[in-house]
Amino acid sequence: MGNTGLNELQTWKAKEVVSVNGVTIECCNLTKTFGGLKAVDDVSVTFEAGKVTALIGPNGAGKTTLFHLISGFLRPDSGQIFYRGRRIDGLPPWRIAQMGIGRLFQDVRVFGKLSALDNVRVAFRKQSGENPLWTVVRRLKVNREEQTFTEEAKRLLQFVGLSELENALAEDLSYGQQKLLTIARLLAAGADVFLLDEPTAGVNPEMVRSLLSLIRRLAEEGKTVVVIEHNMNVVMEIADWVFFMDEGQIIAFGLPEEVLGDRAVRTAYLGI
Ligand SMILES: Nc1ncnc2c1ncn2[C@@H]1O[C@H](COP(=O)(O)OP(=O)(O)OP(=O)(O)O)[C@@H](O)[C@H]1O
Ligand SMILES: [Mg+2]
Repeated sequence: MGNTGLNELQTWKAKEVVSVNGVTIECCNLTKTFGGLKAVDDVSVTFEAGKVTALIGPNGAGKTTLFHLISGFLRPDSGQIFYRGRRIDGLPPWRIAQMGIGRLFQDVRVFGKLSALDNVRVAFRKQSGENPLWTVVRRLKVNREEQTFTEEAKRLLQFVGLSELENALAEDLSYGQQKLLTIARLLAAGADVFLLDEPTAGVNPEMVRSLLSLIRRLAEEGKTVVVIEHNMNVVMEIADWVFFMDEGQIIAFGLPEEVLGDRAVRTAYLGI
């Protein structure tokens, strides 16, 4: 662990309950159909803590649908999803998010009129200041808590590389910076799993570097990181494991060089 400001206790807890082989998310025989189309077809995958797993495949392969299933935005027709051994399919999205499964959507979601710092501060849970009675009775404690949140929010902004912009309005940040901010917000909310859908799409090359470095550091902090990514150079650079999906099915799994070197994958995906 670096001195990068993630909540040590939280990280320790995450490591403590992780299963022996480090698997945090386990999908078993997941199927989701839309009309006659099998968008996700009998998919079984596992994602590990401390690793970056890339999910690749051509347009319409079912990658985003798989993320929707894991985060509870869609219910599978059949199959199961486990998070740290607990069954989560069928739970509402807010509950799954609360358990620690965070998602970075392609359209970033930040509070434009709030500063970067406030965007992170409001993402912390259990803010006793929200209860007016609590505020009156235990004002001192609340002040202390707010101070802790502020310090922690600053540490998270530092972790994602936005310290110098803590007072900037979120709407004035670049698209890539807003993605970094979203990741800081997910960390503040206690996310342990990061489902990142094409995080580098539309981000300027300079900011892509920061984003990729952050993705690696999330894994180094013990987080489970799953990235849908179309850029194979990015996959080679950041992924520990790769799943290749096509027409709803997992066609290949392995190390990046294995999967990207696979003839069937190259034909289906790269057309070569
Ligand atoms: N809500 C929906 N209703 C009907 N069909 C859908 C729905 N969502 C996705 N699909 C279809 O399911 C298939 C898988 O879509 P999905 O968005 O998961 O693909 P993807 O791998 O994320 O593709 P891309 O790389 O283009 O983002 C596609 O054929 C898509 O048109
Ligand atoms: Mg998609």
